[in-house]
Amino acid sequence: MAAEGIDGTALRVRVPAKLNLFLAVHGRRGDGYHELVTVFQTVSVYDDLRVALFGLPGRRHHPAARRHMRVELWADPSLPQGRDNLALRAALRLGELSGILPSEGGTDRDAVRTIIDLDKRIPLTAGMAGGSADAAGVLVALNRLWRCGLSVDQLRTVAAELGSDVPFCVTGGTALGGGRGTDITPVLARGPFHWVICPAAEPLSTPDVYRAWDHRSRPREARADEVLYAVRSTDPGRLAAALHNELEEAAFSLRPELRTRKQQLLESGALAAVLAGSGPTLLALAADEPAAHALAVAIEHWCPQAIVATSPAGGPELSRDAGLSDTGPLLRTLE
Ligand code: C5P
Repeated sequence: MAAEGIDGTALRVRVPAKLNLFLAVHGRRGDGYHELVTVFQTVSVYDDLRVALFGLPGRRHHPAARRHMRVELWADPSLPQGRDNLALRAALRLGELSGILPSEGGTDRDAVRTIIDLDKRIPLTAGMAGGSADAAGVLVALNRLWRCGLSVDQLRTVAAELGSDVPFCVTGGTALGGGRGTDITPVLARGPFHWVICPAAEPLSTPDVYRAWDHRSRPREARADEVLYAVRSTDPGRLAAALHNELEEAAFSLRPELRTRKQQLLESGALAAVLAGSGPTLLALAADEPAAHALAVAIEHWCPQAIVATSPAGGPELSRDAGLSDTGPLLRTLE
């Protein structure tokens, strides 16, 4: 049987990475997480996901078929596989909540299969919420494809079970994050702001960075107001003066070379440089687009993988996956 992917059964979702323009830690909570005040903004570095239903025609939306759903993730072998990947966990959790009981790897030949094909370009474990963005994209796309009918608030509630950055990624744009980062209030922002993103070769563990913060830092009075004013202006100088990340010192204590790199970014023309989330990526803000490209060239000898990008970058973008039926690698493999 040739598998089918026709209109209405296959969607593409493009999800942006995130920046924290401001991140203040207000102490460790009883549940082990840290209370945050943060300003999130999406940036134009994207992962692409394709989600598609495959199975016998007529069964795809049949109520009985919904109880036989199988969900599979197709991702490059260098990426976390199966349930280790947050994108698959998002699908399984949404399936569970919607009454679809996926039997991953089941043997029912007639089962409708939901395939998630992940094309990854956001740097991994970089502090840019790549995994969270994928999970949010899966929630948004499958909410449509599986006809779950969840509201944005309901999707954010599911998202918060998956990870602290996932609720923001459901809608993207620019937002104030409270609680453990999951209480999202959208804020007005203009732009574009021009960035050079410098991923590091070695990952840095988020729990390790928060532990280092516990050992060396105390909550300080830092307010997000100035960043909120700055994102409403189109003035990169104002945003440069307001960028703030209290996890920076903790991350620098674990990886001292990051401090040197930050200094190098400033000496190479960045208006400001700041750690991305819990790191180890560094973000350099440039005055304009030519300055961002010039900065990327100036640091090429130590950061050849630098990415020039703009913010804000909207949220997950859904489109019909019209090309799936004849040209997509997904279908070719299935056939
Ligand atoms: O929520 P998420 O799974 O992304 O968090 C990963 C880890 O980061 C947590 O296990 C915790 O150690 C740390 N974290 C934290 N406080 C937050 C967010 C994350 O301590 N607000």
